[in-house]
Amino acid sequence: MLSRETREGITLEPIVGAPFGARVSGVDPVALTSAQKAVLLNAYADAHGLLCFGFDELLTAEQLHALTAVFGENEFAPGRINGIGRRAREGEPESTVDEQVAKLRNKGVDPYLAFIGNLDPKTLERQPISEKFFGEWEWHTDMSYIPVPPTFSLLHARIIPDDGGDTGFCNQVLAAKALPDDLRSRIVGRSIKHDSTYGSSGILRPGMTVPESPVEALGAVHPILRRVPSTGDEALFLGRRTNGYIPDLPLGESEALLNAVWAHATQPEFCYRHAWRVGEVVVWDNRMLLHMRHPVDESRDRFMWRTQTKGEAVVAST
Ligand SMILES: [Fe+2]
Repeated sequence: MLSRETREGITLEPIVGAPFGARVSGVDPVALTSAQKAVLLNAYADAHGLLCFGFDELLTAEQLHALTAVFGENEFAPGRINGIGRRAREGEPESTVDEQVAKLRNKGVDPYLAFIGNLDPKTLERQPISEKFFGEWEWHTDMSYIPVPPTFSLLHARIIPDDGGDTGFCNQVLAAKALPDDLRSRIVGRSIKHDSTYGSSGILRPGMTVPESPVEALGAVHPILRRVPSTGDEALFLGRRTNGYIPDLPLGESEALLNAVWAHATQPEFCYRHAWRVGEVVVWDNRMLLHMRHPVDESRDRFMWRTQTKGEAVVAST
């Protein structure tokens, strides 16, 4: 996208200073026509995986779910349903997804909505939280440690500090295009095991224990180079650096190759740092982008809503 334009009443413009992404305005999430939905999907592909929607007011859950549904089938929020970023607790009776959803709804919990922040979602008062929440969150792809990770993630900024807590995005389509031949030849046909030990903030996920080494870490194995079927793009798919492992290589060789790939993939020219405004929704394609979060001052409030869409099998690029 080279310049500001309006299609079907929706205004699109490049993000100043960013190598990818577009700003979007003029959207009513619950009244989108099919022509407007097509505009959004085309804009997302042109923008290489990132759209930032500006809204004057905070969205309702219904509005955020409607916007999420433009990009795919709404997926349960991480940690709500067994198998989706959550392991069944020891001794927990087996239950179907429908049973788990019914139980959540009975408690007044929206199974599709996640909350991220240091505030109680109901009262918006401060709640005790690990100090890791306030530190830097490393580059990662959401839930890449499961076999079929969610495709799109959406964050809706509801309470934002004046500074701090920016979100970084790093475009792995641009990184794949710029791969030096020698590095490409070392990774083509190889995979990475995506460790499931830690959540985005570095907190140990429920039911997990710290592995002896990346070789023993638990998590899904995915090709390093993937194809995004809907756009035809090739992208690097790295997950997160912590406990990453390239199967079949001695650990030292795996570490050296991962260090080289990560150094290439996270160069500043592929990245954009997003400073949030209240009301915004950013949607990104986890097949194309890594993201991270900059530190937040412990004395500040920060509260976001998050949704995601169902994933698809990871397609290797050969
Ligand atoms: Fe994340």
